[in-house]
Amino acid sequence: MSYANSRIPASAQQGVHEHLAARVGTHLAHPFRKPVADYNRSAHAQAFAGWDRCAPLILDAGCGVGHSTIELARTFPDHWVIGVDQSEDRLQRRKPYPEALLPANMVFVRADLVDFWRLLVDDGLRLARHYILYPNPWPKIGHLGRRWPAHPVFPFIPRLGGVLECRSNWSVYVAEFALALELTLGRPVPWGTFETGRPLTPFERKYRDSGQTLYRLCVDLDAAT
Ligand SMILES: C[S@@+](CC[C@H](N)C(=O)[O-])C[C@H]1O[C@@H](n2cnc3c(N)ncnc32)[C@H](O)[C@@H]1O
Repeated sequence: MSYANSRIPASAQQGVHEHLAARVGTHLAHPFRKPVADYNRSAHAQAFAGWDRCAPLILDAGCGVGHSTIELARTFPDHWVIGVDQSEDRLQRRKPYPEALLPANMVFVRADLVDFWRLLVDDGLRLARHYILYPNPWPKIGHLGRRWPAHPVFPFIPRLGGVLECRSNWSVYVAEFALALELTLGRPVPWGTFETGRPLTPFERKYRDSGQTLYRLCVDLDAAT
């Protein structure tokens, strides 16, 4: 497939999955107790080794090659920005800046978010901003449980607070994310299309350059309702 010819996820599922609400209800009622892997504990320690314990925190969850993490660190120089991805290969890819010009207020760690999010909650940490940008869509109907809104770790995500933003080129993913949040928070969570002048991530750039519609959900979890 050529660069600017990327496709919207093809799926037999045209709207929110019929089992999503029940799945979220189960996850809210039954705490997720899967043991945390040692390498994720190490990654968690590494993520905070350079933090002064004062700077507000930003998490770029599933940061891929990390361009968004760098952009966020430049945009919010007084914040500590953590880029997490499970792929060491992606994290190691060459950055758009020479090493010496990379912002000092950020760190990349290789971890599984399923454990990393729970370690943050266990620590009582709160985020100022939380980005989940173009998560793997897993568009097959039978793959519902692999999407974050239907995953048992989902209830931990809003517990981290801050301004939470999820972007996707698949409207169903954002619609499901919004519904799962609504069921968790008990209040409406608006979402919609947006246009990006300056793409924050390589996936966003690719989708924009392919002429695709982009979808976004952004909610301030700390705002009074
Ligand atoms: C479609 S890519 C998007 C990357 C980047 N956010 C962007 O927009 O360019 C999804 C990323 O999520 C990462 N990912 C998926 N599941 C993960 C998990 N359980 N823990 C950490 N990273 C994960 C993948 O390795 C991949 O880099």
